[in-house]
Amino acid sequence: MTAAGGDEGRASVQDPLGDPLKDPLGGATFRGALRGLFRAALERLSADGVVGITAEELPGLVDQVRETADPKFGDYSGTMAMALAKRAGLKPRDVAVEIIRRLDVGDLFEIPAEPVGPGFINLRVRQDALARAVVAAVRDPRMGVAPVATPETIVIDFGGPNVAKPMHVGHIRSTVIGDALAKILEFRGHHTITDNHLGDWGTQFGMILWGWKHCRDGARFAADPTAELARLYRLVRKVADAKPEELARDPEAAALAARYPDTGREVLAETAKLHEGDSENRALWEQFMPFCRAEIDRIFSRLHVSFDHALGESFFQPMLAGVVAELMADPAVRARESRGAIGIFLNGEDAPPFLIRKADGAFLYATTDLATLKWRMEHWKPDRILYVVDSRQGPHFEQLFATAKLWGCGDRQRIDGVEFAHVAFGTVLGEDGKPFKTRAGDTVGLESLLDEGVERAGKMQHAGDKTQSADGRPQHVGTEGRVGMDAAEQRHVAEIVGMGAIKYADLSQNRTTDYVFSFDKMLQLTGNTAAYMQYAVARVEGIFSKGGVDCVALRQSVEGVSLSTPQERALALELVRFGEALEDVEIDYRPNVLTAWLYELAGCYSSFYDALPVLKAEGDERNSRLAVCDLTGRILRQGLELLGIGTVEKM
Ligand code: ARG
Repeated sequence: MTAAGGDEGRASVQDPLGDPLKDPLGGATFRGALRGLFRAALERLSADGVVGITAEELPGLVDQVRETADPKFGDYSGTMAMALAKRAGLKPRDVAVEIIRRLDVGDLFEIPAEPVGPGFINLRVRQDALARAVVAAVRDPRMGVAPVATPETIVIDFGGPNVAKPMHVGHIRSTVIGDALAKILEFRGHHTITDNHLGDWGTQFGMILWGWKHCRDGARFAADPTAELARLYRLVRKVADAKPEELARDPEAAALAARYPDTGREVLAETAKLHEGDSENRALWEQFMPFCRAEIDRIFSRLHVSFDHALGESFFQPMLAGVVAELMADPAVRARESRGAIGIFLNGEDAPPFLIRKADGAFLYATTDLATLKWRMEHWKPDRILYVVDSRQGPHFEQLFATAKLWGCGDRQRIDGVEFAHVAFGTVLGEDGKPFKTRAGDTVGLESLLDEGVERAGKMQHAGDKTQSADGRPQHVGTEGRVGMDAAEQRHVAEIVGMGAIKYADLSQNRTTDYVFSFDKMLQLTGNTAAYMQYAVARVEGIFSKGGVDCVALRQSVEGVSLSTPQERALALELVRFGEALEDVEIDYRPNVLTAWLYELAGCYSSFYDALPVLKAEGDERNSRLAVCDLTGRILRQGLELLGIGTVEKM
C-alpha cells in the first residue's frame, strides 16, 4: 500500500538549525524522517555484509520504527534487530549495536546510547528540533501536516442507500465512515471523488409500484409524497414477506395479505416490468424519483454529508447488456451460461459463480457494479476505489474485484495498478447486544435517531451542573453555556453536539466490529466522546477570549516554544504527530486511529493545562504556552472537522 512509509525521509537532516523559524522536518514527520534514517542504516548494514536485506523486505523493516507507548523508553523505537538476528547469526542486541553504529541521527534525534532489553533502539527527539517543529506547525495553516508526495485519485463509494426505503440506523455507518475517510484523504493531499451509489433501481420499486396500484392514498401522496411512498414501502414489504408475527401486529397488512396472497411474486413482476421498460412503470418511477432523491438529500444534508456524484444504479442500466456481452466474449473472464443464467466461475466449476444475468434475463447487483467499475475506470482513471459497505457484502466484493482484475474493465493497461478495497464495517447493536431495533421490532429510522440524539444533547446542556470539564476540573457547564445562550443558540449547540455524538461513537469504534449504540455513553462529557472533544476545543478557545489574546497575531509572532517541563514536552511531541495519525488512518482506512489520537492529544493537553499557568504566566513563557494552546485547539478542531464533526464556541 502506498500509504505505508509515505512520510519517509524527506527531512534534510543536514540542515543546520541556524534559522529559528526553519522547519527542521521540511515536510516530513519525525517518524518519517527517522524511518528514512533507519533505511539508510539498514542499507549500510546489508552492504557491510552484517546481514543481507533485500529491497523488498526493507520497507517492512523500516516500518518497525514506531512511537513508544511509554515516554520513559524515548519517543520512538526501532525493533527490527529482533527480526534480523537469527539470519545474521548474532544476538538481537548485537544486531542493534551494529544498526546504531550506522545510524546517522543528524540534528533531529539524540544519539541512542545502546540498545535496551533484547535489542530495542530507543530514540528521543532533540529539544531544539521539537521546539522548531512546533513553531513551524503554529505558523503553518496546515498545522505542520505536509501533503503526500504522490497524490492519488481515490474514488470513495459510500452512502448508497436504497432510495424509496426509509433510511435506517444501518445507513449511518457507511455514510459517516465514508465521509470521514474522504475528508482525511483529501486533507492528506489526495484527489478524492465521492460517489453515492444509490440503489434506485431495485426491488423496493417493485414494492412501491405494487403498493401504488393496490393501496395508495392519493390525498396523502398529494400532501406529503415521500411519507406516502415510505408508508407504501413498509406496508407492501410486510404483505410480500407475509411473516405471521409481523402481520399479527399490523391489521392493514394482514387484510391485504389475505386478499393478495401472491404479492411476493407480483412485486418481482412489477420490478421486472420496470426493468424491461414498461411505459406505465417507467413513468411512475420517473414520477417518484425526484421525491425519493429529495428525501435522501435532506437527510444527507442534515448529516452535513455531501457527494461529488450520485450516480445511482439506474444510471448504469443502459450499459448492462453490453457489459455482459463483453464479459462473455472475453476468454480471460470465464463467463458462461449455466442453466439459462450467466455466471463467472471464479473458483472452479463447483463453487457458486458470480451471477451477472439471471435465467429470466434480469441483471443483478453484480452486473451494475461491474458496469459502474468500467465507467469509473474510463471517466475518473482512479488509482484506488474504496467501497464503504457492510461487511456482510464481503463475498460480493471479493468476486467483484477478482472479476474486475480478470476483465480489465476496459483498461487492461492500468487495472493491475488499481487498488480495490472493501472498507467493511460491522452491525449497529442495541444495548441488549442484538441488532438495533425499536421496541416494536422494526429497524430504527435514521431520522428519529438523529432527532433523539439532538434532543438528548439539548437536555444534557441543561443538566450540566457538576460535570467535569475537558481539563479535568469540576466545571459548571451552566456558567459558560446556558446562561449566556438564547433558545436559537441552544438549539444550534444541541444539533452539533447531538450529531457529533452519534458520528463520533461510530467512528471511534474499530470499524470491523459490531458496536452497541448507547445514547447515554455517547453523550458523556468525559471519556472518548465527541462531547469531551468539543468541550476541550471550547475550553481552549475560552482562554483566548478570556485573556483577550489575538491568536492570529500570536501565531505569526511566535519564534520559540518552551519545553522545560515534562507536560510541555509531552504535549509538543503529540502536536507534531498529527500527520503521523492521519497517515496511519490511511494505511487500513480506519478513522478510529484518528479519534484515539485526538483523545490522547486532549489528555496531554489537560495534563499540561492542569499543571501549568497559561494566562498567568509571563513574557515568553506566556506566549509559548498560549501558542501551544492555540495549536492544540486548531488541531482538535481540524481533527473533528475531518471526522465530519462540528465544534461550538460555548457548550
Ligand atoms: N445499495 C447498496 C445496499 O444498500 C449499497 C451500495 C454499495 N455500493 C456498491 N457499489 N455496491 O446494500
